[in-house]
Amino acid sequence: MTEHLTIVDHPLVQHKLSLMRDKGCSTSGFRQLLREISLLLAYEVTRSLPLTTREIETPLMRMDAPVIDGKKLALISILRAGNGLLDGILELIPSARVGFVGLYRDEVTLEPVEYYFKVPDALDERLTIVVDPMLATGNSSVAAIDKIKAAGATNIRFLCLLASPEGVERMRAAHPDVPIVTASLDDHLNDKGYIVPGLGDAGDRMFGTK
Ligand code: URA
Repeated sequence: MTEHLTIVDHPLVQHKLSLMRDKGCSTSGFRQLLREISLLLAYEVTRSLPLTTREIETPLMRMDAPVIDGKKLALISILRAGNGLLDGILELIPSARVGFVGLYRDEVTLEPVEYYFKVPDALDERLTIVVDPMLATGNSSVAAIDKIKAAGATNIRFLCLLASPEGVERMRAAHPDVPIVTASLDDHLNDKGYIVPGLGDAGDRMFGTK
């Protein structure tokens, strides 16, 4: 993957995203659409995975059949909203190893503080896909990727549903080696750090909280 930012403009992705943005979309509808869209985004983020071949026997003959090369990939969800993307991707890649990073923002320093960190072993040998639906300020994504790199990951991709120009720029400055795949690059961040036009608080919308 050579592009720093890939926008998945597939009509199914764009259509489902519009349904999700609508404030009238129910919690169950939002969750279902997120699940569907995450499969399509996962398809794109894994597009350039390296292949090798394995000898198999079809009913007709032996053949060297293409299979994904290397260790099982690692999916790392940034809590809590990342879990909405994670569930769908795991349907497509059920053998992936899974990690979680939990961060909250210190109200005084405004810096992200880690409260949970559990990731698969041998990250240096795996493609690591970090998932968080909203790349807004980029602060928590950058902090999470700092920690994931410190745990050994060297081949990382970041998958989100929506990105802001500010978040993409922050990621580009901090982690230029981490390609971003998203369904949309929205217009801007508002003064509360929400993506505009956005879809509101992704965690609240998928879990039905306020
Ligand atoms: N997180 C969200 O859930 N929504 C935004 O718009 C920004 C950050």
